[in-house]
Amino acid sequence: MLPYSQASENNKLPILSILQRYFHPVSSVLEIGSGTAQHGEFFAEQFPDISWQCSDIPENLGTTQQRIVANALQNLPTAIRLNVDEKKWGCATYDCVFTANSLHIMAYDSVVNFFKGLPQCLKPNALVLLYGPFKYAGEFTTESNAKFDIWLKQQNPICGVRDFERVLELAEGAGLSFLEDNPMPANNQLLVFRQS
Ligand SMILES: C[S@@+](CC[C@H](N)C(=O)[O-])C[C@H]1O[C@@H](n2cnc3c(N)ncnc32)[C@H](O)[C@@H]1O
Repeated sequence: MLPYSQASENNKLPILSILQRYFHPVSSVLEIGSGTAQHGEFFAEQFPDISWQCSDIPENLGTTQQRIVANALQNLPTAIRLNVDEKKWGCATYDCVFTANSLHIMAYDSVVNFFKGLPQCLKPNALVLLYGPFKYAGEFTTESNAKFDIWLKQQNPICGVRDFERVLELAEGAGLSFLEDNPMPANNQLLVFRQS
């Protein structure tokens, strides 16, 4: 049995519809916090000309590798270790960085580090795609996201649904321009940025 996330299964098609609009031309993607690698597997199959580089923190890399090794897709290389808290990510540069459901899991300081580190792996005009729940003007978009935030903090107090405005500020500080906020199923968003 490979590591499995029902959320990834549910959101991969809605995410695909946005990627199809933006992935021209994109030939390399770095995914941060790949988890079960279901997104990597699915998007590598959907975009055979794109090399999809999964990554995760060392503690979770074994989980990420399992699906990648099992599939042996030519455009889904072995996952690399990448902790956004490290100053040097040791990565190549990519046409796009994608991350799903990671900003509310990592500590807020790590979200800051994510944006600090991001420029080192972006090619000129690279896309940055952030999937997950966000708050707007301090308000949750739905009651269920408010409950999700409480639940997250019960699991680990460092977790929490992030403020869109703060993420926007951090992204702009990293030299990104905000392009689009796409509402996604299950009260999530897909934020699209491009390096300016
Ligand atoms: C809820 S999982 C999401 C996994 C996958 N992206 C998905 O959508 O199913 C959060 C991911 O963020 C990763 N993560 C947490 N802290 C991180 C950090 N400091 N640097 C990089 N990834 C981190 C975790 O290891 C985990 O894979």
